[in-house]
Amino acid sequence: TDPSFIRNFCIIAHIDHGKSTLADRMLGVTGAVADRDMRAQYLDRMDIERERGITIKSQAVRMPWELDGQTYALNMIDTPGHVDFTYEVSRSLAACEGAILLVDAAQGIEAQTLANLYLAMENDLEIIPVLNKIDLPAADPEKYAKELANLIGGSPDDVLKVSGKTGAGVEELLDRVVQRIPNPVGNPDAPARAMIFDSVYDTYRGVITYVRMIDGHLSPRERIQMMSTRAVHELLEIGVSSPEPSPTKGLGVGEVGYLITGVKDVRQSKVGDTVTTAAKPSTEALPGYTDPKPMVFSGLYPIDGSDYPVLRDALDKLKLSDASLNYEPETSVALGFGFRCGFLGLLHLEIVTERLEREFNLDLIATAPSVTYEVTTDDKKTVTVTNPSEFPGGKIASVEEPMVKVGILAPKDYVGTIMELCQGRRGALLGMEYFGEDRVELRYTMPLGEIVFDFFDHLKSRTQGYASLDYEPSGAQTADLVKVDILLQGEQVDAFSAIVHRDKAYAYGVLMTERLKKLIPRQQFEVPIQAAIGARIIARESVRAMRKDVLAKCYGGDISRKRKLLEKQKEGKKRMKMVGRVEVPQEAFIAALSGE
Ligand code: GTP
Repeated sequence: TDPSFIRNFCIIAHIDHGKSTLADRMLGVTGAVADRDMRAQYLDRMDIERERGITIKSQAVRMPWELDGQTYALNMIDTPGHVDFTYEVSRSLAACEGAILLVDAAQGIEAQTLANLYLAMENDLEIIPVLNKIDLPAADPEKYAKELANLIGGSPDDVLKVSGKTGAGVEELLDRVVQRIPNPVGNPDAPARAMIFDSVYDTYRGVITYVRMIDGHLSPRERIQMMSTRAVHELLEIGVSSPEPSPTKGLGVGEVGYLITGVKDVRQSKVGDTVTTAAKPSTEALPGYTDPKPMVFSGLYPIDGSDYPVLRDALDKLKLSDASLNYEPETSVALGFGFRCGFLGLLHLEIVTERLEREFNLDLIATAPSVTYEVTTDDKKTVTVTNPSEFPGGKIASVEEPMVKVGILAPKDYVGTIMELCQGRRGALLGMEYFGEDRVELRYTMPLGEIVFDFFDHLKSRTQGYASLDYEPSGAQTADLVKVDILLQGEQVDAFSAIVHRDKAYAYGVLMTERLKKLIPRQQFEVPIQAAIGARIIARESVRAMRKDVLAKCYGGDISRKRKLLEKQKEGKKRMKMVGRVEVPQEAFIAALSGE
């Protein structure tokens, strides 16, 4: 295809603002998918995505569109919508010349939209502002058109008004994509360079790599080379998704399509990498390639210890389709055998645990999420700590923790309560900006460790669900952090150790000792439960000794939230854990870890 008749674009939208519905509608309107073949949410492939209504993996679809007697190829590149996948978003954007900024006409701009819009502007994309869901009675297109125009410049009249549901305005939108978004440019005679913007594992075909051609040409059966690793693969198939995969005679400048080489692991075909040919390799890789680093760590343990081999196999399988998942075996006194896993963020953690539970039928418990600390001891040694149990004993010279820049968007009435929350999480206010009449963006720097815990839940409940949040890494900072251990009769219970700010150590100690007191059954002797920083005890409770005449079932406590998990436990299989002389049912530990 002549690059002047190609348009590459993506849709930037907040979760639920209707990106999938609009994408479906475009497939219908352009005839790429016949109505009778229309599955709801064609682009969201994984079941879990469909059920939760979120898009995890980006893909591309080619659609024909005619304007003034000329047929254009429109390549729509899907972008993931969540903070944890910013790197993938940035690569999808880098594959485009333009973006549709899609905003719900009853909601207005949200933090995530803003973050992705800034990314698109950094990539010099042409932005087409669009208000969606204008069929809704609550829609206020005039108000939000002004808001959008304020944000990106231009006049409110330039903001298109559409409904993905009814199809209103969608044809005009497709025309505007052709008119406004620049065509791709590249050098057809240069050595081939294609940027990988997505890499998906398929059980039958192996890895499917989605690329945007920058220069040159790739042909079927050619030998291709990954520029980051120099690995060479044979091209078994090359084609475009329209939206069913269809093989082509190759891909040229500006085109978007897929490659299949028979590799079985997405790590061999990494997002952001440059593909060239082995025969005439390019010498210069495309800019922007990085290896995404895990930011959040958690131990995953099977509730039923005999499921350990199943968990191991499941992680090995998931890794094939998720290049950013990391894990290594770990054992815990309280929880048995499991894995220490590294994730891009909290949602990534949630998605992985949910997939493990659903696709592999596992019941899992996750330990409290932790971040990466750089701990320097008095003798000038620095260790990287992703698990509190690795925190060095003895004198500590300094501890560095990862920081993030946080953007929160909310109605202005909630500013007070949001500030209170952020200050309580050691946030430093960077700035505050009004959008439209009633919405405010608050920007903070904050330790990542303070938001991985339950920040988002608190933010949502303080703002009745109206606040939206975005964050990005922003270096590291030293802080007065300590490790708090929890001891049962003087024995440390590993899964409960936490690295916290010194000012919060006491509160953590009190919380955990009280919680365990309620959950640990009485023994023949008194069991002290202590919280300690090093050798210093900061909180203490105790479980009194059992009286000989008491037969009653003796542990209880509020475990209703995790009842679902507990019910699933096989009857008659109450596994007891010994901590020193103290006998504790594993479910007490599980309840304490997951308790509110
Ligand atoms: P994510 O995949 O989570 O990012 O969501 P999305 O932005 O793709 O939203 P989706 O298309 O799943 O739509 C979210 C909800 O809005 C669904 O319940 C849709 O039925 C509804 N919706 C989408 N477009 C329209 C529209 O034009 N009008 C109305 N009334 N509802 C719409």
